[in-house]
Amino acid sequence: MTTTGAKPAGAEDEAEAAQAVRQMFDAIAPRYDLLNHLLSANVDRLWRRRTARRFRAVLAEPDAAVLDICCGTGDLTVAFLKHRPPGSRPILAADFSRAMLSRATQKFSARKAGAACAVPLEADALHLPLRSESLDLIVTAFGFRNLANYEAGLREFHRVLKPGGQLGILEFSEPGGLVGKAYAVYFRRVLPAIGRMVCGKAGAYSYLPVSVGNFPPPREMLGLMDATGYEECAWQPYTFGIAGLYTARR
Ligand SMILES: C[S@@+](CC[C@H](N)C(=O)[O-])C[C@H]1O[C@@H](n2cnc3c(N)ncnc32)[C@H](O)[C@@H]1O
Repeated sequence: MTTTGAKPAGAEDEAEAAQAVRQMFDAIAPRYDLLNHLLSANVDRLWRRRTARRFRAVLAEPDAAVLDICCGTGDLTVAFLKHRPPGSRPILAADFSRAMLSRATQKFSARKAGAACAVPLEADALHLPLRSESLDLIVTAFGFRNLANYEAGLREFHRVLKPGGQLGILEFSEPGGLVGKAYAVYFRRVLPAIGRMVCGKAGAYSYLPVSVGNFPPPREMLGLMDATGYEECAWQPYTFGIAGLYTARR
């Protein structure tokens, strides 16, 4: 395996990579939702809803302990909450960017009294402040690619999942064929330019295609999941493989 983790430009080691990622998301937090929906023509919402449907059985169990890690502004958690019965155990929504998490907190607070709820948690995915074997489900959307060490992330998730607990990783990938070629032009040229215009910052939306290009392709990622002790490892492509959901059991 060649890829160990995210490598933002200028970062010399894993600690610097994590710091650069956190600063980048702190900086783009005010425009993150707008850009996400704009740049994906709202398809990102469908991907999160589809991911929530995939885990609806465990979400429907009121006592299930669920973590949305790298929750950002909380949209995956909100999609999950639609499948949670009222009064069920709150979903933990964790991120290490305070600015992203504070937007998630606002969304959670706006929910109706009595509806299923979520609890924000400022935490690093590689060092979760959670007991071993305590969670039924961990899911992350578009966050895993940003970890400074993918194997360490998978091991940490494995530590906190109960035996038989489920893992879901929704992540971008690079589609092949003609779709892939057309998409590459959009993703590598058009998207960073729009990001720069709306956000006023070049970094984050230039980093996005680079980070997707550096992320292990599905076969390699499944091998890594298998090697870190997961079972039933699978990848379901979404929208021509522009994104896809990795699933596994501990
Ligand atoms: C692209 S955003 C995705 C946010 C959200 N899950 C979504 O679906 O829109 C990636 C998020 O991962 C978070 N993140 C990256 N590395 C992290 C780490 N080591 N620990 C916790 N959060 C992390 C970032 O702060 C950012 O909010």
